[in-house]
Amino acid sequence: MATNQTFTMIKPDAVSDGHIGAILDKITAAGFVIKALKMTHLTKTEAEAFYAVHAERPFFGELVDFMTSGPIVAAVLEKENAVADFRTLIGATNPENAADGTLRKLFARSMGQNAVHGSDSDENAAVEIAFQFANKELL
Ligand code: RTP
Ligand code: MG
Repeated sequence: MATNQTFTMIKPDAVSDGHIGAILDKITAAGFVIKALKMTHLTKTEAEAFYAVHAERPFFGELVDFMTSGPIVAAVLEKENAVADFRTLIGATNPENAADGTLRKLFARSMGQNAVHGSDSDENAAVEIAFQFANKELL
């Protein structure tokens, strides 16, 4: 997997709040190219697997309940330095700490319902892309 790709999800809060278009617009305006895109609804098993690294954390149940509470939009994004630059674009996990202009500052409801996911490493980006997209969906 190329290191210039990252994986994102527009989370159920932002989908429900009508922010899909605005978020995709900010993403492309920041120089990312959308290489794959789908709207889907995570099953409990999928959400538990996606956030398995947090399985022992006290917020895990709440996180899985939230991520399965409604549809999400998943995408593969391409840009030089994609993982780090996208983490900068989304802002801090807690929107109260997110910089002005970041996606979480603009669109998140709270720490738990924070609008957007972004991969945290090239290795995880590759795993997450393969988790959500079939080969024929990756052009
Ligand atoms: P994400 O994986 O969704 O992009 O978020 P992140 O890297 O910024 O944060 P991460 O540490 O991976 O946590 C995943 C999600 O769990 C919720 N969380 N709650 N109550 C808490 O202390 C706490 N910590 C994390 C957040 O919704 C976070 O996005
Ligand atoms: Mg994370």
